[in-house]
Amino acid sequence: MIQLENISRRFRADEIETTALADIDLVVEAGEFLAVMGPSGCGKSTLLNILGTIDRPSDGVYRFEGEDIARAPEARLARLRRDRLGFVFQSFNLIDELTIRENIALGLAYRTMGSAEKRERVTAAMDRVGIAHRKDHHPHQLSGGQQQRAAIARAIVGDPKLILADEPTGNLDTENGAQVMNILTELNGEGATIVMVTHSPAHADIAKRTVHMLDGRILTSARRAA
Ligand SMILES: Nc1ncnc2c1ncn2[C@@H]1O[C@H](COP(=O)(O)OP(=O)(O)OP(=O)(O)O)[C@@H](O)[C@H]1O
Ligand SMILES: [Mg+2]
Repeated sequence: MIQLENISRRFRADEIETTALADIDLVVEAGEFLAVMGPSGCGKSTLLNILGTIDRPSDGVYRFEGEDIARAPEARLARLRRDRLGFVFQSFNLIDELTIRENIALGLAYRTMGSAEKRERVTAAMDRVGIAHRKDHHPHQLSGGQQQRAAIARAIVGDPKLILADEPTGNLDTENGAQVMNILTELNGEGATIVMVTHSPAHADIAKRTVHMLDGRILTSARRAA
């Protein structure tokens, strides 16, 4: 599904250049559940942002389902994000002026489908993460675990082929973290490809493969014993 070849990302601020990613080669097959681990600042979020096309590599090739998209026009990338990708962030990124239902419906914005189908899909996404009873509340009225589940509902309401999750359990207690992992495992079982950044060895163990990063590079890639 994904091929990265020699991907690098450098940031320049004033005269200082930071190399956030260097010579990254990575293949992610359709249906994989991949965990990305490594110390703070090693480039995990930068990698996820590039995979999600919300950032572009400085160099290298990014193929998504065979198509080289590293330098594709922004409109092409926007369409790809809308149709194929779902994002889950550590900080939830819900909009407090909107209700939970409205937040989740944002995951279908710009989709060409009737409003009845949109309503149905939003309801189904809320049901599957167990948040339907809070649909008319606003994000600040929910617990952290509920907010993260709402954020997952928003990410999956469009039925994405690739789910990118940046420390989705980072702000949650053990029980809520386990719930989120169960939801991700279930989605993976239904065919979604998942790339998840985590600091939790236990949560990385739930994924099928883990890559370890250090200083902008991938050190090792280990597949879980069957
Ligand atoms: N927009 C930016 N401008 C300049 N430097 C950046 C930018 N984004 C990231 N960096 C730098 O790139 C490096 C990698 O950052 P990144 O956010 O990918 O780390 P991370 O592995 O996700 O860390 P954490 O575990 O703390 O979230 C860091 O040195 C960071 O300071
Ligand atoms: Mg990060």
